[in-house]
Amino acid sequence: MKITIIGTGYVGLVTGACFAEVGHNVICVDNDVQKVRVLQSGGIPNYEPGLEEIVQKNVDEGRLRFTESTQDGVENSDVIFIAVPTPPQPDGSVDLSFIEKVAREIASYMKCYKIVVDKSTVPVKTGEKVAETLRRYTKTNVDCDVVSNPEFLREGFAVEDFLRPERIVIGVFSQRPVKAMKEIYAPFNAPIIVTDINSAELIKHAANSFLAMKISYINAISVICESTGADVIEVANGIGMDSRIGRRFLDAGIGFGGSCFPKDLSAFIKISEEIGYDFRLLKEVRRINAEQMDRFIKKITDTLWVLKGKTIGVLGLAFKQNTDDVRMSPAIELCKRLQKTGTKLRVHDPKAMEKARAVLTNVTYVEDMNNVAEGCDALVIATEWEIFKKLDLERARKSMTHPIMFDGRNLFDPEEMEKLGWIYKSVGRK
Ligand code: UDX
Repeated sequence: MKITIIGTGYVGLVTGACFAEVGHNVICVDNDVQKVRVLQSGGIPNYEPGLEEIVQKNVDEGRLRFTESTQDGVENSDVIFIAVPTPPQPDGSVDLSFIEKVAREIASYMKCYKIVVDKSTVPVKTGEKVAETLRRYTKTNVDCDVVSNPEFLREGFAVEDFLRPERIVIGVFSQRPVKAMKEIYAPFNAPIIVTDINSAELIKHAANSFLAMKISYINAISVICESTGADVIEVANGIGMDSRIGRRFLDAGIGFGGSCFPKDLSAFIKISEEIGYDFRLLKEVRRINAEQMDRFIKKITDTLWVLKGKTIGVLGLAFKQNTDDVRMSPAIELCKRLQKTGTKLRVHDPKAMEKARAVLTNVTYVEDMNNVAEGCDALVIATEWEIFKKLDLERARKSMTHPIMFDGRNLFDPEEMEKLGWIYKSVGRK
């Protein structure tokens, strides 16, 4: 199948590379010429495990190429995926101007029947607007089909998630594009759900909001645990073994972040409001998430008393492990809030330091995680990187003014830490 992906961000590039990996011919289009040049010269704009290898392999084998020309992409493919950003606006609604612009461009270059697939996360009913826009702006009056095909990729595991999906959702107006869509996804051997287009769009927002709700639920439970002497990990294990609940996304901490959950939650609340439904459940999910950070900062201030002039080491800047993405990162928010109190920060992240430099200034970036604690009054774990479990705790302890750790991701064992001489405070545990 000849496929074009418009937009080479986190989603678009993974989609293009993985389609090529299973044998399709793929053109990736981006209007950022500099980015296209980086990709053409074998570079990768964002860190994503396994991506660089499959991009290179498929470029070398001639199934994947990059261009800044939308015309090239539209004319030389049968199916065009839109994977451009849909950023949040101050009122929580989604800015759909990139989607609209791309739809107009596709329309202007369409000379024969095409399938146009929306992969970007969009509010329900966007597909209808895209179809309308395509019809309005085609010069030759050619026919096309619009499909909604939401992604469920986790950053850091996006290649793995794409190649081994749990389900593929295909939203359509008619059966006409279904055969081609099934052909595209046949190599992935996953269940394919064909729905109407509005349901497909809703599935994405409903899924992400549910996952965010799960995290807020366990974070709320962590508050109860702290005041009753229970352990949130034990509770999560205990309820998670019920297959109706499931253990995943029950890790308490400093809250969720990233480019999806906060945005999708606000968008879903806004969409609901627009159709006359006050989605108070999701408003509460958002509030619990914000409070979780407040509570963690209070824990730090209650323990250290005066923060002004103190030095805190922060491990983790990315919004979660296995990524260099710092968008809406709870770790960055934490750093900024600590800075406001006059605290000096020594920070480290295995992958996100470069991206963090653009948004977090006046801190000391430390290359080796084992040097972060040096001269610090406390150490904070802000991202759930596995590698932090390998921190040289003895060295860290000895290099600090006093060995205090605030673990915002529950990476260490409280009893073990106490034995090692630490004052250890985590989330939802004694
Ligand atoms: C999410 C969805 O998982 C994915 O399906 C969707 O397509 C895009 O949004 P992503 O944003 O990459 O993926 O991150 P995810 O792994 O879901 O984590 C989101 C945030 O929740 C992170 O800040 C993470 O630290 C936090 N989190 C996750 C918790 O605090 N506890 C958990 O148990 C799980």
